[in-house]
Amino acid sequence: MKILEHRQSGLTVGFVPTMGALHNGHGQIIQTSRQETDITVVSIFVNPKQFAPHEDFNEYPRPVDADIAFLNNHKADYLFMPTAAEMYPADFITKISFHQGVASELEAIFRPHFFDGVAVVVTKLLMAVFPDIAYFGEKDYQQFCVIKQLVKDLNIPIKIQSVPTVREPSGLALSSRNIYLNSDNKKASELLNKVLYDVATQIKQGITSEKACQEGERYLLTNGFDKIDYLVARDSQTLSPHIQNDTRILVAAWIQNVRLIDNISL
Ligand code: PAF
Repeated sequence: MKILEHRQSGLTVGFVPTMGALHNGHGQIIQTSRQETDITVVSIFVNPKQFAPHEDFNEYPRPVDADIAFLNNHKADYLFMPTAAEMYPADFITKISFHQGVASELEAIFRPHFFDGVAVVVTKLLMAVFPDIAYFGEKDYQQFCVIKQLVKDLNIPIKIQSVPTVREPSGLALSSRNIYLNSDNKKASELLNKVLYDVATQIKQGITSEKACQEGERYLLTNGFDKIDYLVARDSQTLSPHIQNDTRILVAAWIQNVRLIDNISL
């Protein structure tokens, strides 16, 4: 049965786009979709357009059999797993690019190709599945903001909803890329979440966000992290440093050759 036929018969459809290597963070998103809609569709597609040539497209984990077992266990109704040739045939020429607003800083500075690649694939996936609601993990908070803006700008009539980050007991946010961490840098990586909470506490105590974030960066760099791309407090809706809504604290940092991102709300 086509997904659209479910909607035509009055059922609601939830969609969880993923790049596979599924973990309990994805499990939580699938569960949310199953609670809120009648039919849950999951896609697995490692999107070449969102990786720069020097990034980990080739190494990105692709445990297809384990992913299918995971989806069966989590009772997803449909798996959509297109090939690269289906998504991007040889005559594919469309680009989507962003110029300002939520897509102009943070990840956009350090991974300039990223959101344009995400926008193309997400638009195609949304058009192919055409769900009522599409779910995205809060761990990629800026991605969630950019996708919300994308569907608004392009009048795509699909609700975009975020699902809270799932963490290990240590606080480390679950990520498909955590498999790149060895036991030494895994220990250090657990400090990332602690630092977000330290920064939040300091801001609540009246310390300026600049000072709190500088202190957080210093702490990470002296405790196993090699480089901080950003550690900032931003407006949760506009991602501007001029905070008018709630505050979101966001970090991207490197341990050896592993780049981790995380965020919390104040
Ligand atoms: O967050 C991800 O897994 C990917 O960026 C997404 C949204 C599936 C697009 O490839």
